Amino acid sequence: MTDLVLQAKAIVKSFGANKILQGISLDVERGELVSIIGPSGCGKSTFLRCLNFLEHPDSGSVCIENIMLSCSGGHWSRKHEAQAHQLRSHVGMVFQAFNLFPHRTVLDNVMMAPMHVKGVSSVEVRDIACNLLEKVGLGALKERYPDSLSGGQKQRAAIARALAMKPSVMLYDEPTSALDPEVSEEVLSVMRDLDTEGMTQIVVTHDMRFARAASDRVLYIEGGQIVESGEPELMFANPTHERTRRFLRTIL
Ligand SMILES: Nc1ncnc2c1ncn2[C@@H]1O[C@H](COP(=O)(O)OP(=O)(O)OP(=O)(O)O)[C@@H](O)[C@H]1O
Ligand SMILES: [Mg+2]
Repeated sequence: MTDLVLQAKAIVKSFGANKILQGISLDVERGELVSIIGPSGCGKSTFLRCLNFLEHPDSGSVCIENIMLSCSGGHWSRKHEAQAHQLRSHVGMVFQAFNLFPHRTVLDNVMMAPMHVKGVSSVEVRDIACNLLEKVGLGALKERYPDSLSGGQKQRAAIARALAMKPSVMLYDEPTSALDPEVSEEVLSVMRDLDTEGMTQIVVTHDMRFARAASDRVLYIEGGQIVESGEPELMFANPTHERTRRFLRTIL
């Protein structure tokens, strides 16, 4: 029996007259690592942001851990916002630009959300945060401020911060695009470890090596639609669609 963590159905999103997402659907099973690839401007970030309603889709629905939220006619009410808030509590998001709070230590950055949003006691949260920082290799840098960290360290802190909320699914938007190759590896290795532990992860990436080697499934998006999806080895070695072939030829 499949255990779906996330189901997105027919997500449509326009900005003004531009229809960016043409009706994208995606089911993700627990423990899957799904990579989303595609040319710049094809709607990858927009789709990812629609999954936790940082963007409001014009239509379509998202269901995460049985919390279902559908949009129609671009209408967005307070009830929608309350449901979105509930849904987001199951989602961890990591951005290219880290988005850490600069005036807080690494440890505080990781502790803030569980304390303020979930109301967990500071003693308990401190324990959880210290363990997570150990796990991402930042145990010794807890009391440092983000500005004194390398890009790879910042991104690992951002991952620990997202994990502190105990999400069911992690969404990453180009987590390594701002990083040098060696430093990217530190971050990707944390993501591989999370995969081994059974975390569900969706990653928008331009890193084709990672998409090919680490994913269970790759989605190729172009023009706001999923052109092709499948097992990475198959897709990279022998894409079925001409558009996928063209993209991979240019990027590889
Ligand atoms: N808030 C916005 N207002 C207007 N247009 C937007 C907005 N956000 C995104 N777009 C447009 O939507 C399209 C898709 O953008 P999106 O950021 O999703 O692409 P992407 O696939 O993530 O690209 P990249 O690989 O460069 O990050 C682009 O044409 C972009 O200019
Ligand atoms: Mg993007």
